[in-house]
Amino acid sequence: MLPEIIKTPDINKSKTNIYLVSEISDLVKAVFNTEETEYISSRLARKDQQTVILNKLGHIAVIYKLDSGEESNQDQKLEKYRKAGENLLGIINEHKMESVCIVDTSHLLNEILAFAEGMALGNYQFLKYRKDREDKESTLKLIEIVSQDLGQKDVSELNILCKAVYSCRSLINEPLSNLNAEKLAIDFESMAHEAGIKIEVLNKQKIEALKMGGLLAVNLGSIDPPTFSIMEYKPERAVNTKPIVFVGKGVVYDTGGLSLKPTSSMDTMKCDMSGAAAVASALYAIALAKLPVYTIALVPATDNRPDGNAYVPGDIITMMDGTTVEVLNTDAEGRLILADALTYAKKYDPILVIDIATLTGAAEAALGNIGIAGMHNKAGKYFPQLVKSGFSVNERIAEFPFWDDYEEMLKSEIADLKNIGGKFAGAITAGKFLQHFTGYPWIHLDIAGPAFLDKRDSYRTIGGTGVGVRLLFDFVKKFEKEVLEAKI
Ligand code: BES
Ligand code: MN
Ligand code: ZN
Repeated sequence: MLPEIIKTPDINKSKTNIYLVSEISDLVKAVFNTEETEYISSRLARKDQQTVILNKLGHIAVIYKLDSGEESNQDQKLEKYRKAGENLLGIINEHKMESVCIVDTSHLLNEILAFAEGMALGNYQFLKYRKDREDKESTLKLIEIVSQDLGQKDVSELNILCKAVYSCRSLINEPLSNLNAEKLAIDFESMAHEAGIKIEVLNKQKIEALKMGGLLAVNLGSIDPPTFSIMEYKPERAVNTKPIVFVGKGVVYDTGGLSLKPTSSMDTMKCDMSGAAAVASALYAIALAKLPVYTIALVPATDNRPDGNAYVPGDIITMMDGTTVEVLNTDAEGRLILADALTYAKKYDPILVIDIATLTGAAEAALGNIGIAGMHNKAGKYFPQLVKSGFSVNERIAEFPFWDDYEEMLKSEIADLKNIGGKFAGAITAGKFLQHFTGYPWIHLDIAGPAFLDKRDSYRTIGGTGVGVRLLFDFVKKFEKEVLEAKI
């Protein structure tokens, strides 16, 4: 359950309070008597102890000592607080608490927000298909914060962001049986309507009229039609006239097609629309927060499966921009549908395009579930800015080399390109394939590793993680700030 985060003016001793303190002396300023303060101080004096729990007639006080360490870097420090917030969920749900109140006694606003964020994100569950969902459901519904420094905007942005991450995770966790390409587009429509985003969903006929040969080829084996969703958020007072365009891979299920995946690699392939869920959810958050930035999200969607009519290895297909592609592996389908979306993006004369996709096992092999593989062409200052956002939200990007030599590996004897590069450098050759359809400033993010977890990792819950949502939101916020500063 998504807890609501609110600002509360005063400490109420009868609640479950969590005191974040940097100095033991801060405790005196808070609500403890001398005896309690002494007890807490003696506990916290131990190097290995950061948390003290006082149970006062059922009202629990948790004292969490913040690191004083100015030496550690701020991004890593905030991540520690997200994890600390998540860590307390154990106690909270064990005691069936419905609300907690975080008290800032040390003027550490960002730390408090990170703490609340970790707690809120960690409280996510996907229980809709379980009979025992009511018993299993976490009890926490409300996170109050007492802090003089806290602004209403901080609180509302954090609520929006957590809500968007929850939406993203639930879209990913939904199986194909309930989320084909058309249903995905319907879900995008309801998000768009709620947030004031303009949305158009192209059906198969319109996709055919646009000659999106990549999307249509992958869809040939499907029993469901493809969709192409166009979400446009254009606020009246946008700081930019040319849009930032996000493109997300929307393969609602990837069997590999006729180049069928082995069973074990197929198990989690409902997650192959994680890029699509991330761009739609990021735009949803940007629009709900009313950030004054003109942004667009494009999602080509279909499943990829074998059938009598499915495309076969050896086929040559013609893409939307006229490029011919020799398909040598039907499991390299993501790049085919993304290529048409990247071509479509040209019509906006974008300032920057960022695509995000569960594109290659090679990216996962290189970085595990920890890092995002990043590549770019002509993105200039925007690439380091996105990397910086990655550190801020702990969705970190590792830049892969993107030398021209890798393009050579995609040369075909009989068509303009092959859809696979060969045994090695798979994440990079996939990126190079996409680059062929760009031309504008462009960043490619391969999230095959961190998109989906087979076991919980702190506030990154099991299943879809929602990676990309907080990253793109932070990037757009920093973009806004930068444009405004440049204008002064
Ligand atoms: N959806 C997969 C990539 C993937 C792998 C995502 C693991 C998440 C976890 C993609 O469509 C794929 O199958 N890629 C192939 C490409 C190959 C045939 C060139 C791969 O990586 O094996
Ligand atoms: Mn595939
Ligand atoms: Zn795929």
